[in-house]
Amino acid sequence: MTIRDILKMGDPRLLRLAQPVTRFDTDELHLLISDLLDTMLAANGAGLAAPQIGVDLQLVIFGSNERNPRYPDAPIVPRTVLINPVITPLGRSEQDGTVLEEEDWEGCLSVPGLRAVVPRFARIRYTGFDQYGDPIERTVDGFHARVVQHECDHLVGKLYPMRVRDFSRFGFTAVLFPGLDAQQDE
Ligand code: NI
Repeated sequence: MTIRDILKMGDPRLLRLAQPVTRFDTDELHLLISDLLDTMLAANGAGLAAPQIGVDLQLVIFGSNERNPRYPDAPIVPRTVLINPVITPLGRSEQDGTVLEEEDWEGCLSVPGLRAVVPRFARIRYTGFDQYGDPIERTVDGFHARVVQHECDHLVGKLYPMRVRDFSRFGFTAVLFPGLDAQQDE
């Protein structure tokens, strides 16, 4: 079990365009995923991207196979290892043809103590590979779509504050949500 340090906003390694994974099912890759998982669970995160522990690869993990007893109503996103992902937004407004978005609160383990309302595509298809090189293709919406977009943004050097449009809804978690105890970031 290895819990790695999570890089914080301001570290230039969080701004890189991550490199594609070219070899699957290697000891090195499995070890990296094991470290990411240990680190995500120790931080009570909903997801974690390889660049957040300083690894310059297109690899993210997210989700949980268990319902969190503290958040019994939170939707379950299956535990997923997603490599070399591609996201396609789905669904357009009947009025003006723009891609449908929705807003919700986000936090990030690389931006501790803060939350903001972030617009994301409401519905997406995502493709990629698991650690064995087997293809993944899913069409998702809501919280699942949000988590995938947040994590995959880490692979193109984007942190959620760069997506905020309304800075009146950006602040400290303890001030915005004073009743929240064990917070779940990402
Ligand atoms: Ni994040």
